[in-house]
Amino acid sequence: MRLVLLGAPGSGKGTQAARLKDYLHVPHISTGDLLRAEVAAGTPLGLQAKEVMARGDLVSDEILLGMLEDRFSRDDTKAGFILDGYPRNLAQAAALDALLAKLGQKFDAAVQLEVDNEQIIDRLAGRAQAEGRADDSPESVRHRLNVYDQQTAPVIKFYRDHGQLTIVDGVGTLDEVFHRILAAIGQAQTTA
Ligand code: AP5
Repeated sequence: MRLVLLGAPGSGKGTQAARLKDYLHVPHISTGDLLRAEVAAGTPLGLQAKEVMARGDLVSDEILLGMLEDRFSRDDTKAGFILDGYPRNLAQAAALDALLAKLGQKFDAAVQLEVDNEQIIDRLAGRAQAEGRADDSPESVRHRLNVYDQQTAPVIKFYRDHGQLTIVDGVGTLDEVFHRILAAIGQAQTTA
């Protein structure tokens, strides 16, 4: 299974991708996690990305594509993947298509987790208190939501127009959302 998980900041992409990875036995590729690992390791790329991420802006398409090509060169992606946090603009959507075409692959579905902004702000305020992620401050969250509306919303339309989009209600318990995603991608659990 090759999945692209879309949704606003705090819509639950990372949470659900972690579950889907175990269920579908394919790697979870989170561009946010890859970038945070670079920041934590203090690499030149991490140093470049750190301030951009804290502000809630997008890191350059060039850096992202390099990271993604590197990750997709590993054998574990051959059987499938769950891509979380990419693409975030139309240029990245085109780059993903080109990368997959080069690898002789296509993704099966783009799943959009829908959560209203009020709930997102509550969730990220909770995570700011619990984990102190640099970009969960109220100003950064507001900015991330604007960046999402301006740059990522066109990607949703692009996949919708191409008949590749599946919308899933992201509000509910973790189990409820998980089962909705499985049903949407035709992998619903059957009782033995
Ligand atoms: P990234 O890490 O991708 O952040 P994001 O998209 O803003 O997503 P989050 O991790 O905040 O949210 P999520 O949807 O994964 O939700 P989660 O499961 O964590 O990117 C961070 C930054 O990196 C970007 O701003 C950018 O700078 C850079 N970047 C990354 N990719 C890039 C790209 N392609 N191009 C350029 N730059 C890029 O859940 C959030 C919270 O809600 C958690 O506390 C969770 O416990 C809780 N929660 C989850 N589900 C539920 C539920 N059903 N009910 C209640 N609470 C829930």
